[in-house]
Amino acid sequence: MYGIDTDRPAAALDGAVDLRSDTVTRPTAGMRRAMAEAEVGDDVYREDPTVRALEERVAALLGHEDALFVPTGSMGNQIGMRLVCEPGEEVLADADAHVFTYELGAAAALFGLSSRTVESPGGRLSADRFVAQVRPRGDWHVVPTAAVAVENTHNRGGGLVQPLDELQRLWDWSRTAGVAVHLDGARIWNAAVATGKDLATYGRLADTASVCLSKGLGAPVGSVLVASAERIAAARLWRKRLGGGMRQVGVLAAAGLYALDHHYDRLAEDHEHAQALAGRLGLDPAAVETNIVVVDGVNAPLVAEAAKAQGVLVGQVGASRLRLVTHLDVDRAGIDRAAAVLAGLLDR
Ligand SMILES: Cc1ncc(COP(=O)(O)O)c(C=O)c1O
Repeated sequence: MYGIDTDRPAAALDGAVDLRSDTVTRPTAGMRRAMAEAEVGDDVYREDPTVRALEERVAALLGHEDALFVPTGSMGNQIGMRLVCEPGEEVLADADAHVFTYELGAAAALFGLSSRTVESPGGRLSADRFVAQVRPRGDWHVVPTAAVAVENTHNRGGGLVQPLDELQRLWDWSRTAGVAVHLDGARIWNAAVATGKDLATYGRLADTASVCLSKGLGAPVGSVLVASAERIAAARLWRKRLGGGMRQVGVLAAAGLYALDHHYDRLAEDHEHAQALAGRLGLDPAAVETNIVVVDGVNAPLVAEAAKAQGVLVGQVGASRLRLVTHLDVDRAGIDRAAAVLAGLLDR
């Protein structure tokens, strides 16, 4: 199964170096304390102060008016796209985008949105490629393009940071073209830490953006959708329709706030670990921009199985491609152990 290893009981994972994904982190003792002590209320009544604090904080960080706490990045993305695209209109995204690859056709299945992919080698955004594909409204022959979805950092693109000049060009063009931009910013934190830019630099170049607390930041659950106040009011209805209206969920929002306070700056460490791992595997460390290392041209199932037998878990993202993701729960000793095992198996 791509990127996921489900056939091993959780207890057996203890002690393994788990590089399958940055979603596998477990809440730290400090985070658990913050969760236990969180002030809560019924968030469907908008009475949970901790959720509200998280929403306000993330909206401000991303340079948006308002925000909505949602259980997952997939829900954040799907609602975000629905806010800017009507049934029968289309969203464009690159062919490897998470929104089209890993969200099980939700845009079509749930909302009647049409999806079209644009080839973007390695996931790297080229504004021109999108501009060339846009189809106009008001022409009864074609599906009108309502939105472009951009992923930053790019998961299948090996954690690449989208070039700011291309994001800016896409944004400037979109303002005149009447096309919205949705940002899948599941790992936007990694992009900001890697470039030293602030989050709003990226957030301001999108009409809607979904950011995840449950990836590199290490919260057990939760994403936040940011947009204008008007759009967030509509998003609240969509979240409820989808069954995502949650009650005393400040216990989860507290994990997100804790993660922003304690786990943001340390993402740089994950990036260093990823570069070190790449170097040990004979790859160019400079090509690793954030926390994901892609190893191509290998027998992925065979290597993954052999590594697992030696206590190292890796992700498979294709028959010949492995993905190694660094995160909070893998320290330098774990990286060294994984590097030794994988270098042996890959004969590097
Ligand atoms: C780039 C990207 N977007 C969105 C998501 C979806 O997040 P979730 O698993 O919380 O639905 C993921 C999950 O890994 C992701 O990598």
